[in-house]
Parts: sequence; C-alpha cells; structure tokens
Amino acid sequence: MKDFKYYAPTEVVFGKNSEDQIGKMAKKYGAKRVLLHYGGQSAERSGLLKKVREQLTAEGIAFVELGGVVPNPRVSLVRKGVEICRKENIDFILAVGGGSVIDSAKAMSVGVPYQGDVWDFYIRKAFDKACLPIGCVLTIPAAGSEMSNGSVITNDENGLKKDYCINEFRCKFAIMNPERTYTLPAWQTACGAVDMMMHTMERYFSKDDDMDITDNIAEALLKTVMNSASILMREPENYRHRAQIMWAGSVAHNDLTGCGTSDDWATHNLEHELSGMFDVSHGAGLAAMWGSWARYVMHENITRFARFAVNVMGVPNDFNNPEATALAGIRATEKFFASLGMPTDIHTLIGKEISDAEIDEMADKCSNGGTSTIGGLKVLAKKDMIEIYKMAR
Ligand code: NZQ
Ligand code: ZN
Repeated sequence: MKDFKYYAPTEVVFGKNSEDQIGKMAKKYGAKRVLLHYGGQSAERSGLLKKVREQLTAEGIAFVELGGVVPNPRVSLVRKGVEICRKENIDFILAVGGGSVIDSAKAMSVGVPYQGDVWDFYIRKAFDKACLPIGCVLTIPAAGSEMSNGSVITNDENGLKKDYCINEFRCKFAIMNPERTYTLPAWQTACGAVDMMMHTMERYFSKDDDMDITDNIAEALLKTVMNSASILMREPENYRHRAQIMWAGSVAHNDLTGCGTSDDWATHNLEHELSGMFDVSHGAGLAAMWGSWARYVMHENITRFARFAVNVMGVPNDFNNPEATALAGIRATEKFFASLGMPTDIHTLIGKEISDAEIDEMADKCSNGGTSTIGGLKVLAKKDMIEIYKMAR
C-alpha cells in the first residue's frame, strides 16, 4: 500500500430536511455577506432557493445573487461573479446546485483575491491558494465537487475545458437532501451514476495490487451505484436509492477510494475535450470513452481488469484466459451504461460522425500541443489519444 495523505474536511449534513440547517451552517463558518450562486431554473422551480433565502434572512446574513450557471460552467460568468464579490464585499460563497455551480463558485473564490485573470489558474499560469470560503447545497449527485478539491471550467472563447485542484477549494459544508434529487431527469441521474463510477474506477485501475481495503470499498461502491441507479430509472422517487447514490457520489470523489493507490484519470482527460468541443454532459462523455480506453490499456494489468469483471460485473472467471474475462467485463460495463440510456461511442454521444480533424484537435488540446501526457496505468501521448478517440468514434 502506497503512503498517502487523506484530507476530507467538509462537514456533511445529510438527509431529509437537512436544508433547514443552511443558515446555521453558513453562520458557523463565518458568513456575513454571501454570494448565492445557482444554475438555471431547477432550484427555483423546486422551491429550494426560496428556502435558502429564508434561511439566510433568518440568520441575519446579507446576500447577493448570481444565477445562470450552465453545465460545463463558463469562465465568462466566473469573471462576472468575481467582480460582484469584490464590489459587494462578499465573504462567503454559497453554491446551490450540482458540479457546475460548485465548480463555478470555487473558481470565483480563488479569483476574488487574485489580481490577474481567474483563467490563469486553469492554464497553470498562477498557483495561488487564497480563497473565499464556500459552502454548498447539492442538488445532483454526480461530480463529487461537494467534497473534492477540484474545479473544472470551460473557456467560452476557445472551448478549452481545464481543471484547477487545491485543498482550499474543499467546501466548508455540504447540505445533501436526497429528496431534492427526485426531480432529476433519468438522463441526469444516469450521467451522475456513470461519473461516480468513473471517479472510483479512475483510482481502481492502477498497477498497484496491495490495497485490499481500498479495493473492497471501491468494489462495494460500484455495485451499490449500479444497483441503485437501475432502480431509480424505474422509481425516481425511491428515497432509499436516491440516498445511496447521493452519498456514493461524495465518497467516490472525496479521495477515500484512492487511499494507498495511484490513479489514472485518462478517461476524464479525454472526456473533458469532448465536453469542451461539443458541450455534452460529462457523465455521458465518460460512458462513450471508457470502453475504448479500457481495451487500449488493459494489458498493463490484465489481472485487475479480470478481477473487476468478476467482482463488480459478475462475469464468470475464465481461469485459463484472464484476457477473455477482462474483455467480458468491459463489454458488461458498456452494456450496463447502455441500460441506463448512456452512449458507449462518440457517434451516439454527439449525433454525428466525428472527423479526423476534430479528433486531432481534441488530442492536441489534451496533450497541450503534444507536449504533455495523461494517464497512470498506461501513460498516453498524443498518438495514443488519437487511437483511443478513433476506437471510440
Ligand atoms: O441549471 P439547472 O436548472 O439547475 O439544471 C441542472 C443542469 O442542467 C440540472 N439539475 C441539477 N439539479 C437538479 C437538476 N434538475 C432537476 N432537479 C435537480 N435536483 O442538472 C443539469 C446538470 O447539472 P451539472 O451541475 O452540470 O451536473 P454535474 O453535477 O454532473 O456537474 C458536471 C460538471 O462537473 C465537472 C464536469 O466536468 C462538469 O463540468 N466535474 C467536476 C469535478 C470536480 N469539481 O471535482 C469532477 C468531475 O469529474 C467533473 O469533471
Ligand atoms: Zn467526473
């Protein structure tokens, strides 16, 4: 087992009526002037925002609002938010929504004290860690941003989608009421399930084989998500399974499933180019890419792919042929994604054939013009990225 540091400081308030504690939690973490940040219409329609406003008012906390975050959140809105925070002397950002809203809030939080343009962090031109504190009310279990150290932002001028990761981004608190996720369309529920599975699998598929506790947590998490997601496709208001999925999404990305192992993240990096170029849902993009990545790299640790096939996907073990077992596991995973209505190739994802030029452009951006690599299980250069995109097309 590799040496590791584990840091998950977010105070989680989970369950029915947990949003009754929003005001108290904001106060506890020092909020006096809040920027209330949210997305399109879902939180307004459900009455959640009304409740948040009431909660803040009841605690005597002043607030200013900025809505309009879109999936694949844009740097242009982040810049606007930074200006508002400065002008209004904001001391705390409260994100109400999913990964996109929370990531946008994180970007603003580091942008406010910084003198330059906030995009500098995402292109590794600046590395500051000073941030305004953030709290969140999670409405979609998926990205895991409520407990993660990452923020992923899209630059609307050039289509680049990039991340910035610092521990200072971790939310002070996260309010999670599974009932608030009943309104999620099946597509978003499925995208979320794939994303949390991938957060676990990006850490699971490594060359290491000696972290039993981490592997067992990961396998249990994956099986739980698969079972609950399947049930939610038929029963969207099933509290028990909304709750499993909601907590699984946080545990999948708060680093618990990565303790003692080395991680990969190639599928995520390949996907970020897809959502940067075609504005697709992140989870659907991951489903479209994973099988091709897996087939390309599986020989780096065939035993692990065979273990996954047997322990997670329930494939019979062909003891004489681990490659056949591994491939059956990959096929079973794709079949599961398809059963949730997820695409398992790029054509289905974007609704047209992707061109060689578009593949080359994505690989070029992903490798920073051919100067950098991705992946841990197998290190991938630009030519490998092109091969995987072609396999997935
Ligand atoms: O804008 P509204 O109207 O709220 O609609 C949203 C949005 O259209 C809707 N929604 C959210 N809660 C709902 C709801 N609809 C009905 N009922 C509810 N309760 O769902 C749509 C998707 O929301 P979004 O926040 O975009 O989804 P998600 O949480 O999947 O976030 C995706 C973003 O997170 C990034 C992705 O790249 C993508 O940009 N990621 C962030 C990570 C991190 N910070 O650690 C890691 C991930 O790997 C990922 O890259
Ligand atoms: Zn993800």
